[in-house]
Amino acid sequence: MKIGIIGGTGFYEIAGEKIEISTDYGKVETIHFKKSNRDVFFISRHGKNHHTPAHKVNYHGNVQAMKKIGIDAVVGISTVGSMKKGIKPGSIFIPNDFIDFTKRKTTFFDKETIHIDLSEPFCPIIRKILFQETKKYRALNEGIYIATEGPHLETKAEVAMLKNFGDVVGMTLVPEAILAREMGICYASLCLVSNYAAGLQKRLSIKEIKDMYKAKKPIIKKIIDGAIEKIPEKRNCRCRHAPKEGKM
Ligand code: HPA
Repeated sequence: MKIGIIGGTGFYEIAGEKIEISTDYGKVETIHFKKSNRDVFFISRHGKNHHTPAHKVNYHGNVQAMKKIGIDAVVGISTVGSMKKGIKPGSIFIPNDFIDFTKRKTTFFDKETIHIDLSEPFCPIIRKILFQETKKYRALNEGIYIATEGPHLETKAEVAMLKNFGDVVGMTLVPEAILAREMGICYASLCLVSNYAAGLQKRLSIKEIKDMYKAKKPIIKKIIDGAIEKIPEKRNCRCRHAPKEGKM
């Protein structure tokens, strides 16, 4: 069974074999390794040295590379800012829904009309497994992720508005989650809350975000390692049927 992990550079560093995948969107580098008798492929979302900013990430290439490899289960790891006092920096957040405030292209399908269903945008089975693996830590297994374009952090006024619609804010979930569903890939998101969003704390610094993910890296790794072992090979979710069911 093949499992994909898409994460920020510092998040899930593993030694493995580098494999380059050619896609319609350019070459994508993956790192392949074996874990719990599964073939795992890691893609560094922002490129090798974290040089690709959120709005320039090759989301289409990354997801198409996963599909080409034959991966049907992906976990996306990212940092988010909390818009709710009760969701504290340092905690883990597994969203069950999102709202897209980006300006990005969110489809593979330009030549045929496919309306994939996003009533349940994340794979319920992978979400449940992630949550089981987070039981030992401070974790929330439900909530709404607001996706912003970036690369700037939000204004206070934006957060004051957005917090009426969601719980955390981040820049990388969209279009990744949508594209995975378009490919029929089971996808769930594991977020680390790295800070309070603008206006909920005095000022934001990237050092603070980086320090948080450095500090929490071992926890993220344990959660992912546990999930890799437990994701069942046969899943009765609807994810893989999405492209067929959405076809006009
Ligand atoms: N806003 C957007 N993206 C983020 C934040 C934030 O406050 N923190 C980490 N990623």
